[in-house]
Amino acid sequence: MKKIALAIALLLHMHTFAQNPPTIEAEQPKWWKEAIVYQIYPRSFKDSDGDGIGDLKGIISELDYIKSLGVNTIWLNPIYTSPNDDNGYDVSDYTNIMKDFGTMADFDMLLKAMHQKGLKLVMDLVVNHSSDEHKWFQESKKSRTNPYRDYYHWWPAENGKPPYRYSLFDINHDAWKYDSTTNSYYLHYFSAKQPDLKWENKQLRQEVYNIMHFWAQKGIDGFRLDAFQFAAKDTTYPAFPKGYEKNFVQYYGMQGNLHGYLQEMYYEVLSKYNVMSVAEGAGNTFEDAHNLVDADRKELNMAYAFEAVDLATHKGYRLTDLKNVFAKWDSAFAEKGWLSIFLASHDCARLVSRYGNDKEPFRKASSKLLSTLLLTLRGTPYYYNGDELGMKNIRFSSIDSYRDVQTINGFVYEKNNGGNVQAYLDQKAETSRDNARTPFQWNANANAGFTTGTPWIAVNPDYKQWNRAAQEADATSTLHYFRKLTALRQQNPLLVYGKFTLVDKSNSNVFAYTREWKGEKWLIALNFSEQVSNCLLPFAVTNSQVLLNNLPTEPRLGTHSINLDAYQAVILKLPR
Ligand code: NOJ
Repeated sequence: MKKIALAIALLLHMHTFAQNPPTIEAEQPKWWKEAIVYQIYPRSFKDSDGDGIGDLKGIISELDYIKSLGVNTIWLNPIYTSPNDDNGYDVSDYTNIMKDFGTMADFDMLLKAMHQKGLKLVMDLVVNHSSDEHKWFQESKKSRTNPYRDYYHWWPAENGKPPYRYSLFDINHDAWKYDSTTNSYYLHYFSAKQPDLKWENKQLRQEVYNIMHFWAQKGIDGFRLDAFQFAAKDTTYPAFPKGYEKNFVQYYGMQGNLHGYLQEMYYEVLSKYNVMSVAEGAGNTFEDAHNLVDADRKELNMAYAFEAVDLATHKGYRLTDLKNVFAKWDSAFAEKGWLSIFLASHDCARLVSRYGNDKEPFRKASSKLLSTLLLTLRGTPYYYNGDELGMKNIRFSSIDSYRDVQTINGFVYEKNNGGNVQAYLDQKAETSRDNARTPFQWNANANAGFTTGTPWIAVNPDYKQWNRAAQEADATSTLHYFRKLTALRQQNPLLVYGKFTLVDKSNSNVFAYTREWKGEKWLIALNFSEQVSNCLLPFAVTNSQVLLNNLPTEPRLGTHSINLDAYQAVILKLPR
């Protein structure tokens, strides 16, 4: 009897074990957790045909360079047919290639060449909105009974003006645009040439899934869902409280049946391929973010939250805030879900200018320090092209130099509404997205070797000193340092999966933390200031091994402290 009871107990135990393997979700290995994503802004990367615009053949010609960086995944900004109101984020044909960038044959060649080199490709999927030049919209606006009418959000003008909706790019900040053809308003959260698609329409959703199948069947490795947190809407369009636009994500983000649509997308498309998925935007709370990415939700793999990247304004930021933001997101995702790590993209000014110090003599060290941060946090790093060279803000002084719809339309808004236009320009010199969109600096030749033609946007004049060729020849360059970092991350799962703990939290100069994995412990200490700074440690570091140091000077190790020079970054392996 006893034996039978024991056998039953054992069987029950084995059953529960099989049901609940004793692993923490965040520690389960996945290729996309181990990815180091390198973001390429195709328009500005490399021009192969002299029209002044980067293209796919240009990227193909530099795949050896990309591979040499030690990254393993590329995220390409949109390359689909587009009138380029927002540089490709206004798609007029989702299954064709923008003429400026080349042809579908070029794309196929690019994907094949990348895969041959062991590089994965993540594509931008821009389906919160399309271009107003997309066939769907052209049809939709023709009549109220057109079969495509319900692909977009329309408000009949006989019902009066629709409740105010703030638009991020509109010259009047007004997201409803009147269209006389059908005496109706259509909704556009971004520019008037980017009408929002109506996700509440099943047929529209099916069209998007077909587009995703098209690319997944070509063999791409992932999708980055642009502005997707805004995709679902309350189609009764209720009035929002006055001034809501200061906090518009609370009203636009994660509305309606967004999770239902993502689960449908997972079932219809994502689950059928070995692709990764990442949403731009993670809602308003940790719970929102978890609901997007926890494995049992069957929605997405990752979402990127904006809290860290939004900290720096034109006036700067406080290091303690940055530390707190990274620490609190890490702890909220320590067991379940997975984070994306980034501090720069095509949507913000340059990394070293915003979060580091681009003045001499600190530019090089602070640029290396920021790369160290991004490559040693838990989560998948998204690293923006050119940051490995320490490219900095161009700081345009005239509105005529800008190409970005957001910056230009914002200027018109200021002008038309009695704003301080000079103050606007001064601020944009620090914050405009165009700072990050100047051509990649390949060498000291004309136009930094980016094009033989006239570049679509000015090249940063510092290219004569700051370029790839010069950095290849200099063993101490930011470029070589970046390669050391990617190698360290590729070789050490500790940097991907290891536990993160902030050290000396209140230190306002030094950002220090440990990473721990399988009995091994590393300390990463980053002095974000121009002053020699000390960091207090709750453990001894005297016999540590220095794995990486961005300066020629050794860090000064006390028993329970570390003393660092200006912008010094070190990675130490602690004695067991
Ligand atoms: C986010 C993209 O990253 C940005 O570049 C674009 O302007 C908006 N979404 C609208 O698509």
